[in-house]
Amino acid sequence: MAKKQLGILLSGRGSNFEAIAENVEQGGINAEIAIVISDVADARGLDIARQRKLEARFLDPRGKSREDFDREVVALLVEHKVDLVCLAGFMRILSPFFIQQFPARILNIHPALLPSFKGLHAQRQALRYGVKVSGCSVHFVDDGVDSGPIIIQAVVPVLDDDTEETLSQRILKEEHRIYSQAIRWIIEDRVQIAGRRVRILETPV
Ligand code: GRF
Repeated sequence: MAKKQLGILLSGRGSNFEAIAENVEQGGINAEIAIVISDVADARGLDIARQRKLEARFLDPRGKSREDFDREVVALLVEHKVDLVCLAGFMRILSPFFIQQFPARILNIHPALLPSFKGLHAQRQALRYGVKVSGCSVHFVDDGVDSGPIIIQAVVPVLDDDTEETLSQRILKEEHRIYSQAIRWIIEDRVQIAGRRVRILETPV
């Protein structure tokens, strides 16, 4: 069977993408990265993609409506036969049009235990609130913000002397682990969605 094709969308550093790429290269994820797309021209993630000899494209969102931009992204993903879209620090909200093109085929990683601390600066929100544990969540993307069904979460402690930086680092380590795990389950066809609940099956669907 042909390998599943991943499409990565990012806007910055690209460390989650790098962890996924590493797992793909090592055979831990039985898929190929078909294309990496960024809405930011000088995103570090694009450089990493090019160093890895992956197809890397910048798409300029300036002067375009959300849907017009998304139509360009979707066209590129379709052209590259992408099966699964992975948002990895992609700082844009997807249009309903985009989401409809890939039903239950778009993943996102969020640096908090959803449904807590949605949106930007989740780690800062967690520190300000004073929670004792935080973590990260990989979820399907629906038409809300950080609101789709959750596939996997990881928990980390919040320490008394944590800063936004130290907490982010601790969470990031777990992000790199669980994002690849979620992708692996989906590639293996072991993920079943029932309403908001996602079940991981022992054997493929
Ligand atoms: C991560 O914290 C991720 O959870 C959030 O954006 C950040 C992206 O980091 N969605 P990187 O670009 O993958 O290093």
